[in-house]
Amino acid sequence: MASSSKMASDPYNLNKDMVNTKSSKKSFHALRVIVLCFSMICSFYICSVCLQQTSQHFPHTVVVRSRISEIPTPPPISTETEVDIVHFPRPKNYSREECVSTEVRFFAILSMQRSGSGWFETLLNSHMNVSSNGEIFSQKERRSDVSSITATLNQVYNLDWFSSAAKNECTAAVGFKWMLNQGLLDHNKEIARYFIKRGVHVIFLFRRNLLRRHISILANSHDRNLKLLNGTHKSHVHSREEARILASYKPWIDPVSLIPELETTGRSAMKALKRFNHTNHITLFYEDVVKNTTKLQDVLEFLKVPVKKLKTRQVKIHIKELSKQVKNWEDVYSTLKGSKYETFLDSY
Ligand SMILES: *[C@@H]1O[C@H](CO)[C@@H](O)[C@H](O)[C@H]1NC(C)=O
Ligand SMILES: *[C@@H]1O[C@H](CO)[C@@H](O)[C@H](O)[C@H]1NC(C)=O
Ligand SMILES: *[C@@H]1O[C@H](CO)[C@@H](O)[C@H](O)[C@H]1NC(C)=O
Ligand SMILES: *[C@@H]1O[C@H](CO)[C@@H](O)[C@H](O)[C@H]1NC(C)=O
Ligand SMILES: *[C@@H]1O[C@H](CO)[C@@H](O)[C@H](O)[C@H]1NC(C)=O
Repeated sequence: MASSSKMASDPYNLNKDMVNTKSSKKSFHALRVIVLCFSMICSFYICSVCLQQTSQHFPHTVVVRSRISEIPTPPPISTETEVDIVHFPRPKNYSREECVSTEVRFFAILSMQRSGSGWFETLLNSHMNVSSNGEIFSQKERRSDVSSITATLNQVYNLDWFSSAAKNECTAAVGFKWMLNQGLLDHNKEIARYFIKRGVHVIFLFRRNLLRRHISILANSHDRNLKLLNGTHKSHVHSREEARILASYKPWIDPVSLIPELETTGRSAMKALKRFNHTNHITLFYEDVVKNTTKLQDVLEFLKVPVKKLKTRQVKIHIKELSKQVKNWEDVYSTLKGSKYETFLDSY
């Protein structure tokens, strides 16, 4: 978590051009320690005030632990106050039966289209105590304003949301996935406040290689029109053969708009990381999880549910080297070569 959070501070090299003088760094260090201590004291105070309010507003909420870590020898994240809020929802339509006294934690996967969140969600849902209810804010009326968003969140977190993923009675962690462009950044202040107040565990899931993501978006929108698989559009597939058919389409990438597009995407991700930095969060990159599925155990620990092996039937669509997946590879190559996005050309 520590290392991924460090990487997360600028994963897309947005600040690469900034000048970093070493001498000023040192003198700032002492000041930073002072500010840090002061902000810890403040945040503890704010937190204790918040917590009192939380239990007033949500009667089925219990704050289990509130702790401040020791003064750090500069650690990246442990300086934050860690508050664990658990809930005992009372769904409107059914009784939680024998699990009525099972603690429930709330979570939200904050991600972007074509970044592996569908795959990630099927993995989470293979856990008997985790319900991740999909992209519930894809429907515009649910995010038309803050009060619709809040009402929707309340319904999901009260275990009143019915989807194929809902496990009802014995759910120990309930959540959904939320794309940054679905009202999340537009209403970031209010949403962050809600997340902090109700102890929502935030899981950032981004893709490191934004070029691969870009190709995936183009291919997916092509398939939405052409419906390559027997006339049905599929964003995710369950067999190698289906994946091969979808990957057979090689998009043409506009070299002029490519870098601005990658920049915009990177900026959105950075904005989300900043604006929701005060929530209880974990940052994951799709590529890292694919390479090392042990990262999934970190997620289960973060959600405080029993650690189990997770499974999915989904198959990765684009597995070939990038040069074979783009129609005008030479253009793309010469556009990115020498730019700060050069590593996207050959990295996985
Ligand atoms: C909850 O129950 C009521 C009454 O039985 C029903 O009308 C309503 O559709 C149910 N809600 C959901 C979300 O299933
Ligand atoms: C997980 O679900 C199972 C089966 O529904 C239930 O028996 C168990 O108590 C649940 N565990 C937790 C931690 O909620
Ligand atoms: C298309 O449909 C045929 C006949 O139903 C089936 O055999 C084939 O596997 C399908 N192909 C794909 C790519 O889904
Ligand atoms: C989040 O906060 C931590 C600790 O205060 C800080 O080191 C980090 O740079 C922040 N990350 C972002 C993306 O703002
Ligand atoms: C895989 O991830 C786990 C948990 O984050 C980490 O402890 C481990 O070192 C990683 N293994 C490799 C080979 O990177």
